[in-house]
Amino acid sequence: MLSRRVQQIGFSPTLRISALAQQRRSEGVDVLDFAAGQPDFNTPERIKQAGVAAIDNNQTRYTPNPGTVELRQAIVDKLARDNGLEYGLDQVVVSPGAKASLYFALMALLDPGDKVLVPTPYWVSYPEQIGLCGAEAVYVETSLADGFKVTPQQLVAAGAAGCKLVILNYPNNPTGAAYDPAELEALAACCVEHDLWVVADEIYEKLLFDGQQFRSIASFGAGIRDRTVVINGVSKAYAMTGWRIGYAAGPKEVLAGMGRLQSHATSNAASVSQAASVEALQPDDAELLHMREQFQKRRDLLLAGLRGMDGVECNKAGGAFYLFPDISGLFGRRWAKGTLESGSDVAEFLLEEASMAVVPGEGFGAPRHVRLSYALATERVEEGVRRMAGAIAGLS
Ligand SMILES: Cc1ncc(COP(=O)(O)O)c(C=O)c1O
Repeated sequence: MLSRRVQQIGFSPTLRISALAQQRRSEGVDVLDFAAGQPDFNTPERIKQAGVAAIDNNQTRYTPNPGTVELRQAIVDKLARDNGLEYGLDQVVVSPGAKASLYFALMALLDPGDKVLVPTPYWVSYPEQIGLCGAEAVYVETSLADGFKVTPQQLVAAGAAGCKLVILNYPNNPTGAAYDPAELEALAACCVEHDLWVVADEIYEKLLFDGQQFRSIASFGAGIRDRTVVINGVSKAYAMTGWRIGYAAGPKEVLAGMGRLQSHATSNAASVSQAASVEALQPDDAELLHMREQFQKRRDLLLAGLRGMDGVECNKAGGAFYLFPDISGLFGRRWAKGTLESGSDVAEFLLEEASMAVVPGEGFGAPRHVRLSYALATERVEEGVRRMAGAIAGLS
């Protein structure tokens, strides 16, 4: 009865583990949530108040399909200020979340049968969205030893010349990988040379650690800018996941196509959320800096903890709020319910034996890994390290 299109997609694995953890919690277990894909902070007060004011002022009707002029102007200003990218208002579309922006970008660019380069580990929704377009993902494996960064040589070896598009996400979910400008410039040159479109998922732009400066791949000249759709939003940087505001910027024709798609799929993003996002994008980063500082501290804590565990190997993530350890050193060891043989096994083991929720790597194309989000209070991160180390010590 279901269409082939829908039969091919699974439920988001990130959400599945959260639901399992929720169930354990409802049974009275104190589960540490290392599975969350969102900041644990509240939306900053000034942004919430802008939303409240929008309701009071009756900004509660449809807005223009690609977003209000005020929000698109705030986005244009932000892209110029932070990223050195000049766009017109007609080159920006606001959507209900960056996930929707990504989907519309892929739908606007891909025909059935087109090939898309996807570096692994990847964010769970890319393969599904590519499949929904009838296109084919071509996976390019990156490794922990290389900090999970893809190189131009790898793109070429994977058949860049025969592909239409590459999805680049940095800082990366799930690995935290962040590129430096020289690496990005080389990737940009490769994309121009091989006539590749780029969908640049920059949703974690603001969560970059150790003083690194973010560069958008679109900022390395007109050649790459004119073949890149930049995806960003307010969800992660401003703790606004529930407001559902994402945006895309890029070549006018592509953005117009995305706007047409959106006009028949969702219409505009929520009017109140758009008003709050105008405030979020003002150049006042005090709350953001506080949040980033906290995340960096927690990353350091968790990284040191993981690196101290036998059978666990982890790279130093440069951004986002995830660590993605290789836990294959635990494979073959036994616990009460069997032998550990995959990321899923380890996630189940940790939920049962350490009462902590982590996401198995399978959904990210990396079954030798699990993803730990450190979007939870510092004391909870410390407690998680203790519990995990204790559970691993109990393996035989
Ligand atoms: C890499 C990546 N891209 C896009 C999104 C979607 O963000 P939004 O909540 O704005 O739809 C997420 C959210 O988890 C993400 O991790």
